[in-house]
Amino acid sequence: MDSDTQEQAPLLEARGLQTHFFTRVGVVKAVNDVNFQVMPGETLGLVGESGSGKTITVMSILGLLPRGAERLKGEILFEGEDLAKKTEKEMQDVRGKRIGLILQNSMAAMDPVFTIGTQIGESLVVHKKMSWKESLQNAVDLLRKVRIGAPELRIKNFPHELSGGMRQRAASAAAIGPQPALLIADEPTTALDVTTQRQYLELLKELQAQTGVAIIFITHDMSIVGSLCDRIAVFYGGLVVETGPKDELFKNPTHPYTKALLGAIPVLGDKVDRLQSVEGEPPNPGQLPPGCPFAPRCSAAMDKCHTGDPPPQYQVSDVHGVRCWLMEEENA
Ligand SMILES: Nc1ncnc2c1ncn2[C@@H]1O[C@H](COP(=O)(O)OP(=O)(O)O)[C@@H](O)[C@H]1O
Ligand SMILES: [Mg+2]
Repeated sequence: MDSDTQEQAPLLEARGLQTHFFTRVGVVKAVNDVNFQVMPGETLGLVGESGSGKTITVMSILGLLPRGAERLKGEILFEGEDLAKKTEKEMQDVRGKRIGLILQNSMAAMDPVFTIGTQIGESLVVHKKMSWKESLQNAVDLLRKVRIGAPELRIKNFPHELSGGMRQRAASAAAIGPQPALLIADEPTTALDVTTQRQYLELLKELQAQTGVAIIFITHDMSIVGSLCDRIAVFYGGLVVETGPKDELFKNPTHPYTKALLGAIPVLGDKVDRLQSVEGEPPNPGQLPPGCPFAPRCSAAMDKCHTGDPPPQYQVSDVHGVRCWLMEEENA
């Protein structure tokens, strides 16, 4: 992304997002204070260990929270409106039409009893008010766009008749059909083999170049972030602990957790899960420690890191923020 994007208004901005689960055994603080921006047409990577709050953050944005979860605070500014203030009925119009969703397991996301054509067509009928005939013609074009051969035949297939990679591409065709401004992809390549994964990421980039869609890409794989993303939000214990343009973060990682994550960036496709190379265990959001959630694993932790609220966000630059008390020391 070039530097004039900084002057643009964000397509999506999450401010102070907080979502907790109220369970029989207590409160699970899944999302505590999440702040990030996505510019039109760019790719934001949400990265962080399993359980850090990435999925619940995007589900909070989409209004698709599981039972027991409640969005307590925050603004979700999207295309000039606050999604947090919208009714469920209004959100039904945003989902699918303005924001597309691609999940890790497209088999589970697709309905096994309907053909691929019907599933891609349905969202066009609903959101674009097309006739069924029109929508099926469009489904063929969309399948061609995601590089599925013989699309006229493929629209008649059921999800189980497609390979995993093809199904993920079909699910992506369904998501981009209504021409959303934003695609949210939650670990879409985790279930794919290395070659299929690489092809899928290339396809996403191509679709973005053709349509100008912005993407929120959730992953725990730093090599994917490196090749795909313009901007990054690093999640830890329900907080965005560092965020900014990828190049800046990679050059000047400032939070001790980000530094640990970037300690060894594997080449794309390396199946070793490098996030596990950060020593220690991620926090349990049902029992977060006081202070900074990363403090118990942080070799640079000071006394104040173990008490009170998590550190506020300090600016490394206009566009690069970090939540770490070390920044206060530095600025003092
Ligand atoms: N249905 C649920 N009930 C209770 N807690 C949940 C539920 N789903 C997720 N959580 C909690 O929320 C935290 C964040 O989950 P999630 O956003 O799915 O993490 P990530 O996507 O980063 O792996 C998890 O650590 C878990 O403790
Ligand atoms: Mg997740």
